[in-house]
Amino acid sequence: MKKHLKTTFCLLILTIFLFSSLVDGARNNTTVTILSGSAGIEAELFKSAAQRYMKKHPQVKVRVMEVPEKVEQRLAFFLQLLESKNSKIDIYEFDVIWPSLLEKHFINLNKYGGKKIASRYFKSLIENNTVNRKLVAIPLFVDAGLLYYRSDLLQKYNLKPPKTWDQLEKSAQIIQKGERQKGNKDFWGFVWQGDKYEGLTCDALEWIYSNNGGTIISQDKKITINNQNAIAMLDRAAGWVGSISPPDVTKFTEEISRNFWQVGNAAFMRNWPYAYALGNADKSAIKGKFDVSPLPAGKNGKPAATLGGWQLAASKYSKNPKVAADLLFFFASAQEQKYRAMKSSYLPTVKKLYQDRELIKNKPFIGKLYNVFINTVARPSTPTGIHYNEVSSKFFYSVHAVLTGKKDAATALKQLEKDLQKITGFQVGRVQ
Ligand code: GLC
Repeated sequence: MKKHLKTTFCLLILTIFLFSSLVDGARNNTTVTILSGSAGIEAELFKSAAQRYMKKHPQVKVRVMEVPEKVEQRLAFFLQLLESKNSKIDIYEFDVIWPSLLEKHFINLNKYGGKKIASRYFKSLIENNTVNRKLVAIPLFVDAGLLYYRSDLLQKYNLKPPKTWDQLEKSAQIIQKGERQKGNKDFWGFVWQGDKYEGLTCDALEWIYSNNGGTIISQDKKITINNQNAIAMLDRAAGWVGSISPPDVTKFTEEISRNFWQVGNAAFMRNWPYAYALGNADKSAIKGKFDVSPLPAGKNGKPAATLGGWQLAASKYSKNPKVAADLLFFFASAQEQKYRAMKSSYLPTVKKLYQDRELIKNKPFIGKLYNVFINTVARPSTPTGIHYNEVSSKFFYSVHAVLTGKKDAATALKQLEKDLQKITGFQVGRVQ
């Protein structure tokens, strides 16, 4: 797997290198290049939007290039390009947690017309993308963690969608046992994102917050992770590995869990909204056999969904910042977001689309998710600013050590608390 990703990475660099000569050759045209995500059909969606833009602007050539799926690899790749002031890449699609980290490499979109259109988008997302009054990016889609469940199997075993982790564990055991007895030896109760990467930070934050264990570091800059509710929840999650979740779940990303679920081998899955449309695609084994709900709550808390999502920003090193800004405004426009949402299940960031009758009729799922999305929990990227990446890495490595049985949660979180103090200089505090 690692080898495969390394190869992808090298190929990408090579492509950019080769591609740069091609761009230089295209003297009569303005060529604008965007780096797109690669999960599900993201790149396909960008390519079709690019076609529509080029039809309107025949003098512009838009190139869409895919980047690795994992957030850390994307970030490393972006930093390599941005720190070398690469002028061949014009638009970056970046994660909701990165505005402070990458801000200095992007143009202020307010100066290119962003100010006029910002109020069309959810205020919290625009605020997240505004650093020192600079509008760094426009939100393209928003993510929230969801519980996917097999409605056909719940019905078959006379069960209801679980509201607590206790109920999820019980239902997962019942369905897993039943399906295996019926001959599907590869069937498991619950799949999620357990690999050592940002995705695990998202899942573990949901577990901990749903058990009233806080957000690792609070908005007022206190380290709160070392608490009994967080410890209890992580020990509980470690108990899922090999019992209701496959032993290999500690190597799962979003796409690995989605593929596992989509062939019909799991009763429950934690994932982002994009998996909804893909699960209902014609070739999917579970088409029409599943639904979504908020994730379960712990004994001491309420359901939690981590806030995720991707933004579009234009590079300061682009030779065509004006065209890049115009193109990214087009990609993130209401019309294009509606198009994306109709073709997939990416949640729009333009407020009025949640009242768009045609869209809600076509995708009732999106209307249903509105409440989940406006009640999401943010990772501590605002209080930790440029240290967020380091904080998150320490967190997911600690959680991974608990999941793989290398440490118990109390030992792991005690050490993590010390490490986070060193990274951030913040004081230890209590969960409010
Ligand atoms: C999704 C989310 C993003 C998060 C990532 C973790 O892409 O939108 O915010 O960081 O998953 O894998």
